[in-house]
Amino acid sequence: MPAPTYLSPPSLPLHHTATATTSTRLLSGGRRHRRSRPRHMSGLVLLKAKAGDVDGGAELLLASRRHAVLGVARVLFAAANERCLRGMDRAALGRGGFFAGAMANSWRVLMQGLASLMFLCARADEYVRQPPSPLVLTPHDKPAAHPQQVHISTVGRNKMRISWVTDDRSTPSVVEYGESRGNYTASATGDHATYKYFFYESGAIHHVTIGPLAPSTTYHYRCGKAGDELTLRTPPASLPLELVVIGDLGQTRWTASTLAHIGGADYDMLLLPGDLSYADTQQPLWDSFGRLVQPLASARPWMVTEGNHEAEALPVVGFAPFVAYNARWRMPHEESGSASNLYYSFDAAGGAAHVVMLGSYAEFEEGSAQRAWLERDLAGVDRRRTPWLLVLLHAPWYNTNQAHQGEGEAMRAAMEALLYEARVDVVFSGHVHAYERFTRIYDNEADGRGPMYITIGDGGNREGLALEFLEDHKSAHLSMFQEASFGHGRLRIVDETSAVWTWHRNDDEYATVRDEVWLESLASPKQVTGRHDEEL
Ligand SMILES: [Fe+2]
Repeated sequence: MPAPTYLSPPSLPLHHTATATTSTRLLSGGRRHRRSRPRHMSGLVLLKAKAGDVDGGAELLLASRRHAVLGVARVLFAAANERCLRGMDRAALGRGGFFAGAMANSWRVLMQGLASLMFLCARADEYVRQPPSPLVLTPHDKPAAHPQQVHISTVGRNKMRISWVTDDRSTPSVVEYGESRGNYTASATGDHATYKYFFYESGAIHHVTIGPLAPSTTYHYRCGKAGDELTLRTPPASLPLELVVIGDLGQTRWTASTLAHIGGADYDMLLLPGDLSYADTQQPLWDSFGRLVQPLASARPWMVTEGNHEAEALPVVGFAPFVAYNARWRMPHEESGSASNLYYSFDAAGGAAHVVMLGSYAEFEEGSAQRAWLERDLAGVDRRRTPWLLVLLHAPWYNTNQAHQGEGEAMRAAMEALLYEARVDVVFSGHVHAYERFTRIYDNEADGRGPMYITIGDGGNREGLALEFLEDHKSAHLSMFQEASFGHGRLRIVDETSAVWTWHRNDDEYATVRDEVWLESLASPKQVTGRHDEEL
């Protein structure tokens, strides 16, 4: 992979250039909304109308009709989509019937098709927000013993867990590896397990921990003594460190676009704050997702935490929540003193960064195991040695988008003070399918000692984008940037005091930087303290 690039392509077609976030007001449900719109669109139509010619007037009329069609499509889809999502979430979390959830899912697929058709028919002359996209299934055409769905994750200071699946349940859980191609100087043995879900039985899910490994080093490895040779690079032992952050990934054409952009520039580690495969009880989709992400996830550590779409609970038939997720995406929770795969932490860059992965769907109230663990974990962080402290979770604590309003509030109330006292630098979340960046906040006020909050749930899932931002939301004055487009983010921690965050929008074959902000570590003695209202 080439070196990281942050600059936008020098020349882009007009409809792909600088579509700055501007405010528009529309009435829906009695509330004023703000949504991302291209600055040039209405200007283009008006210029033609001012020319006074017949063609210009006709084009204006046509454009108005197209916009009306798009508006109707968006409103209808958003309203119906939200109801179906609510039904699916209830089913996934075990509070609704399985068949009701399945029906809701079927209706959503039908509506996505209709909405996509309307968007295509309208063909408005503007930057059209990407409509929901169908699934991209990644088939398996290799022998049953062939390792597939390979992904890696860091374990402790200098080890790596290699995870993969084989349809053949008798293949060995062995990884051979070395620093030269085809020359394996070491090997390690692990274990494997399977799980059942109705008539589905998973392949053997293997986990093997290799190491100790040298930092910033390329290793060649082979799984199960039968697979292709793969290559990974271990993270650096010191700063700088480049982190890719992406949530709500799914497996659609937009997902493929996001993955291509991520793979187009180098990075050290990927962080994913929940909603991976969108299997939503359809277990083969977990396998398809694993195959889709393998080219990237087998080469750099992918560190994930759970979203609501990982739950898949069916209490009626005794299927506990997160069984598939926990079996397939085992994270280093034991190594960080956590009793649950749903929340854990790890160090990066030799301890210069500490990353806390919280569980929005594990108990978090006062007296809960997660809260007690978080207190212990944060107490063990020495900010003189660890200048960067990052937190990821799924349901955002601050959110001005119409979607998922208030869903993170109980967790915020239970845990925000802990993060504030520890001087957490950034809190990343997903769940809302758009991008939003806030200033530093504590308890609903701008505060230079609080974390910066970033929602990055725009990976490319099949549910489509969350288009509406609420202009009169109580947190609107704290929100620095909103845009409902697919994309991904990168946090480059330059040194112990400075880092740069960039958000890259998917502009077809380009990943265009649309938002960039520099951060100073809250452990830095230079960092401003005290409350104020400006962006920090
Ligand atoms: Fe979600």
